[in-house]
Amino acid sequence: MSIQSPGLFIAFEGGDGAGKSTQAARLSDALESRGLSVLRTREPGGTPIGEKLRSLVLDHGHGTIDARTEALMFAAARAAHAAQVIRPALAEGTVVITDRYVDSSVAYQGAGRGLGAEGVLSLNEWATEGLRPDLTVLLDVDPSDGRQRRTAGDAAEDRLESEPDDFHSAIRHAFLDLAAAAPSSYLVLTANADIDSLAAQILERVQSLLGDRVPGVRP
Ligand SMILES: Nc1ncnc2c1ncn2[C@@H]1O[C@H](COP(=O)(O)OP(=O)(O)OP(=O)(O)O)[C@@H](O)[C@H]1O
Ligand SMILES: [Mg+2]
Repeated sequence: MSIQSPGLFIAFEGGDGAGKSTQAARLSDALESRGLSVLRTREPGGTPIGEKLRSLVLDHGHGTIDARTEALMFAAARAAHAAQVIRPALAEGTVVITDRYVDSSVAYQGAGRGLGAEGVLSLNEWATEGLRPDLTVLLDVDPSDGRQRRTAGDAAEDRLESEPDDFHSAIRHAFLDLAAAAPSSYLVLTANADIDSLAAQILERVQSLLGDRVPGVRP
């Protein structure tokens, strides 16, 4: 249980196409069906200003966006998200499930763009006033598997997704390094396990964090 608030804050992280949205939806449905108050949200986005920043930073066609500008845009969207959406929901006892959070910036801007983990972490500590997830579920995906999954779905690639494979490899390792540095706050799962088995493992871990708030939670 969080020491920062009565709710529970869960982040899904991992490379593009790892299955974050799929598993965030599964967890959200499982908890809601047990009567818990759940807020499912995503980054960048989650607020009107965050959604505008999302399209500015992810869509093609805004010209070159240098790495620091990109990092600040993500951090700006996250500041709004933390202050206006996540903290108030946690204060009401809601389980907040976010699709991406600070680790994505450390991975994409810190490692992928080469800004370094430390600077990006401290920028985001400031932006979120130190709000950290109680649990981060890291879906570890091989970048080529992730790309294959996305293109199978026929979706156009955004500015970051269309970066080359070595960019995505650097991201993968940055996520794993973050998890290794704080193992008790992470659940690291191999993204190519089957969807039901991943959902069951995630729910089991969340159930242990919720304790007796949700007796009998089952996948
Ligand atoms: N464990 C899995 N095994 C096989 N396919 C999966 C698995 N999980 C998700 N998929 C499929 O892979 C595709 C990408 O999944 P999803 O959209 O959940 O990933 P994501 O991490 O949210 O991607 P993005 O970073 O692009 O938002 C979808 O077509 C989804 O159905
Ligand atoms: Mg997604």
